[in-house]
Amino acid sequence: MKKTLAVPPKAAATRSARKPTSVPMLDLSRQYAAIRTEVTEAIERVCASQQYIMGKAVVDFESEAAQFLGVKHAIGCASGTDAIWLSLLAGGVGPSDEVFTTPFSFFATASTIIRIGAKPIFVDVDPNTLNIDPACIEARIKRTRSSKLKAILPVHLYGQCADMDELGRIGQEYKLTLVEDAAQAFGSAWRGKRAGNIGTTAAFSFYPTKNLSCYGDGGLVTTNDSGMAEHVRLLRNHGSRKRYYHEEIGWNSRLDSIQAAILSVKMKYIEDWNEKRKQRADAYDLLLKSAGLLSSDTAHSPVRLLGRMPQAFHIFHQYVIRVQKRDELREFLAKQNIGTEVYYPVPLHLQQCFAFLGYAEGDLPESERAAKEVLALPMFPELTSEEQATVVSAIAQFYS
Ligand SMILES: Cc1ncc(COP(=O)(O)O)c(C=O)c1O
Repeated sequence: MKKTLAVPPKAAATRSARKPTSVPMLDLSRQYAAIRTEVTEAIERVCASQQYIMGKAVVDFESEAAQFLGVKHAIGCASGTDAIWLSLLAGGVGPSDEVFTTPFSFFATASTIIRIGAKPIFVDVDPNTLNIDPACIEARIKRTRSSKLKAILPVHLYGQCADMDELGRIGQEYKLTLVEDAAQAFGSAWRGKRAGNIGTTAAFSFYPTKNLSCYGDGGLVTTNDSGMAEHVRLLRNHGSRKRYYHEEIGWNSRLDSIQAAILSVKMKYIEDWNEKRKQRADAYDLLLKSAGLLSSDTAHSPVRLLGRMPQAFHIFHQYVIRVQKRDELREFLAKQNIGTEVYYPVPLHLQQCFAFLGYAEGDLPESERAAKEVLALPMFPELTSEEQATVVSAIAQFYS
C-alpha cells in the first residue's frame, strides 16, 4: 500500500506550506459568512412584520420548496421528527399497524412509528448502499402474511435515495403506503424525480447539520395528495382550522416564520451547495484511491466506499466510508484535530428502549456490521481541497 498521496511535487509543496492544522466535521460559520447580509435582512423583515407564527414567510417558503421538489404540497412543521410523525398519520398509519423500516437510521425513524401506537418491523439493509433492502421486506411479507402491514418507511441514507423502483413495486403489489424519510436528502433524486415527490408522503428535517438547514429546529412534509396535505395542515396546528375549534387532536408543530425566512434565503443556494458536496465526494474518492487505501481485495481493504446507485442523484449529506479498526482510526484522527462522526453506532433494533420489540444481536447482521465499520468524514460545501488532502493523508498514515 502506498503511504503518501499521489500529488505532484510542486502542488504538494504549496499544499504543505498551508496545511490545515485542523479539519472540522462541519463548519457552518463559513456558510453564514457568505449569506449573513441576506439572512439578517430576512430576519429583520419578519420582525418588522411581527408575523412570527404562520406568517407570509412560511407560506412563501412552502411554495418555494414545493416548486423545487416538484411536488404539489409542502407543509412546514416544527422538526424532522414531527414531519415523519405527520407523514405517517396523513399516510393512514394508525395504532397497531405494522411499518417496515430500516434499523440503520436516526432514532426518530422508529420512535415516530411507536408514538402513533404502530409497530416498526425492522428489516436489514443492503450492504452496498446501507439503505433498506427491498428483498428483505418481500421475504418477510411472504413469511408472515400479516394483515397488519400498512406502510414502508425507507430512509434516503446519507443523501442517496433508497431503491425506490423496488420499494414502489412492493408497495403497489402488497398495498403498502410508501412514506419517505428524506431528512438527509433535500435535492437528491431517483430517476430524475426528487426525494419528497416519490412516495405517498415524505418528511424532511432542517436541523442545523442538514444540507438544507435552519437556525434551530424545523421540518417539512410533502405530498401530491390534497386530502393528506389538508390533514397535515390540520394536525400541525392542534387539529384546528378555526381558532379554538378543534376537529381532531393534533399538536403544536408549526414552522416558525423566522426559520422559514432563513430557509428561503438558503433555498437559492441549495443546488449549488449540493453540487459542491458531490464534487467533494468525488475528490475524496480520488484521494483515497491514489493513497492506495482502496484495495480490490475488499475483505482486506482498509477502506471501502459505499455503493452509488446509477438511478440516484446522491447529494452527499454525509460522505461515509467503511473502515477497519474504525474506533482506533477515529481516535487517531481526533488527535490530529480532524473531526469525524459515526452514523450510527447502535442499530435501532438493538437500542435499549426498543428491547420490548424482541430483537436480539445477530437478527440483522448487515446493519450490525455497518454500525461497527462506518465513519463519516468532514463534508460541507465550503470544505477546501487542502482540508480533504489532510484528512486522507492522516488516514493513510494510520494504516501505514
Ligand atoms: C434519517 C433522519 N430521520 C429523522 C431525523 C429527525 O429530524 P429532526 O432532528 O429535525 O427532528 C433525522 C435528523 O436528525 C434524520 O437524520
